[in-house]
Amino acid sequence: MSTPTPPDPAEDPPAVELEGITKRFPGVVANRDIRLSVRRGHVHAIVGENGAGKSTLMKILYGMQHPDEGVIRVGGKPVTFRSPADAIAAGIGMVHQHFMLADNLTVLENIILGSEPRRGAGIDFGAARKKIKEISDAYGLGVSPDTLVEDIGVGARQRVEILKVLYRGARILILDEPTAVLVPQEVDELFDNLRGLVREGLTIIFISHKLDEVLSVADAITVIRRGTTVASVLPKDVTARRLAELMVGSELPSPETRESTVTDVVALSVRGLTVRGGDGRPVVRDVSFDIHKGEVLGIAGVEGNGQAELVEAIMGMRPAEGVITLDGTDMSHWPTLRRREGGIGYIPEDRQRHGLLLNSPLWENRILGHQTRRPNVRGPWIDRAGARADTQRIVDAYDVRTPGIDVDAAALSGGNQQKLIVGREMSGDPVVLIASHPTRGVDVGAQAAIWDHLRAARAAGLAVLLISADLDELIGLSDSLKVLLRGQVVADVDPAGVTPELLGSAMTGAGGPDAAPATGTPDPAADGGETPDAAATAQATSDSEAAPDDQAVAAGGRGDDPDDPPSAGRAGPTPAGEGK
Ligand SMILES: Nc1ncnc2c1ncn2[C@@H]1O[C@H](COP(=O)(O)OP(=O)(O)OP(=O)(O)O)[C@@H](O)[C@H]1O
Ligand SMILES: [Mg+2]
Repeated sequence: MSTPTPPDPAEDPPAVELEGITKRFPGVVANRDIRLSVRRGHVHAIVGENGAGKSTLMKILYGMQHPDEGVIRVGGKPVTFRSPADAIAAGIGMVHQHFMLADNLTVLENIILGSEPRRGAGIDFGAARKKIKEISDAYGLGVSPDTLVEDIGVGARQRVEILKVLYRGARILILDEPTAVLVPQEVDELFDNLRGLVREGLTIIFISHKLDEVLSVADAITVIRRGTTVASVLPKDVTARRLAELMVGSELPSPETRESTVTDVVALSVRGLTVRGGDGRPVVRDVSFDIHKGEVLGIAGVEGNGQAELVEAIMGMRPAEGVITLDGTDMSHWPTLRRREGGIGYIPEDRQRHGLLLNSPLWENRILGHQTRRPNVRGPWIDRAGARADTQRIVDAYDVRTPGIDVDAAALSGGNQQKLIVGREMSGDPVVLIASHPTRGVDVGAQAAIWDHLRAARAAGLAVLLISADLDELIGLSDSLKVLLRGQVVADVDPAGVTPELLGSAMTGAGGPDAAPATGTPDPAADGGETPDAAATAQATSDSEAAPDDQAVAAGGRGDDPDDPPSAGRAGPTPAGEGK
């Protein structure tokens, strides 16, 4: 273990020092003799595999969990936090791994919740709005106070969470996997915001599984393995590969899928699918596609362009116009459970809201959504033994790190919750898998394992609809790609001829000469064998009035060389396995 810079006595004391922190849960030591020193004005990254103890450590620093042993110092002074209120008073704020905002409240209401400025007996909304605006402007967060949270995308939610923490006066920000749901452009924006904050003297502790991001944004990095700090390094001294080795002792995986297994049998067919929002306006507009057995169809898009609604319509969770057929049978009017029984597996984008019962044991979570099928039932009865045995099988096959199948799902780390859901949804030989961000929040080793499971199932004939903010994953796993912008398919892209940078441009509609290779207008019969030599140039407009039809998808342009460097020098992910 090496410490990057020996503490200079002339300098400020570290913003945060953790010494000898140990935390035990029944059956697990989540943190063991942790040592961590974070300098003021630094972005300090913490990396480590799923279940390594990162979130637990941060919850300790934020007063949500209490260490069994060890000392916390803030600005050189020892502190004891009984609750987050104590940590907030000491200038510490935390943005959690899972979103904590209330959808049905406005941005302003969410931000002031719990610390409402008072005027007489009422809440001083005027003062709150002014303060929010000041903070938003000062750090370029672009937060508009009166929007409903359910109407904003994940990138904006992330900024609201950060603003909420700043609103409470935090000088030390803990961000637990803030980028897990962000597409590269949003990650860049977030990092610009973070750099603004550290310039003002704030300190940021940042957790991520995306090692290239860590290398691009962090001033210092600490690696945690099996609950303890094993290394502190400077980004300039390591590569992504080396970091992965420090974390898990293995190499970085690649999502690359080589041989095609696409057949000519259509497993899922969607025709003219339109989904309307609460105001009657379409949020998904006339979308059509086929997914064949053995094919992965990827949907690329910045969050909030209709992906969630598209998926929910296919799952029967939302009313929609159009026709959806599964294995040749029209299932447009089937309820969700029947669609699942018909052979659709579903990895939801929000694992805590739609994927798990957090306060139920793992084996009961195995039954969720599969409550009418073997091995969970026998005749009309729940088959406890069958469900339990199969839960153990999933835990083994998907390497879910848990003391047992009787612990509540809430006791699993975020990445391990994800692995359990993937294992469950891949059970029982589904015909179609709807996978929203299947490897969200899982570490590089587990990501490789999930990719292997997906590839094996694909080779055995599984049809997959893949939605992912991880563009390397999306490009690497998909046999064909469609770009969704404002609810419409604006381009078909050949994954073999596109880079994350080019795809990112097509997704934002910011094309220009470097736009993604694509084949213009959507073609329902497209089978993925598109030629990559036309450039899709969907014009960027911040004007929400512009009809999607106006999105110019200009064919023609230069013969795209996939090796062309992207025009914008953004620090997006380099292909996995490359390091830096
Ligand atoms: N409330 C809890 N009760 C019991 N065990 C817990 C609880 N919270 C965490 N654990 C256990 O502590 C260990 C560390 O979990 P933690 O959530 O800190 O991991 P992590 O590094 O954040 O992982 P991930 O990358 O998957 O989010 C895990 O073994 C987890 O199962
Ligand atoms: Mg975590």
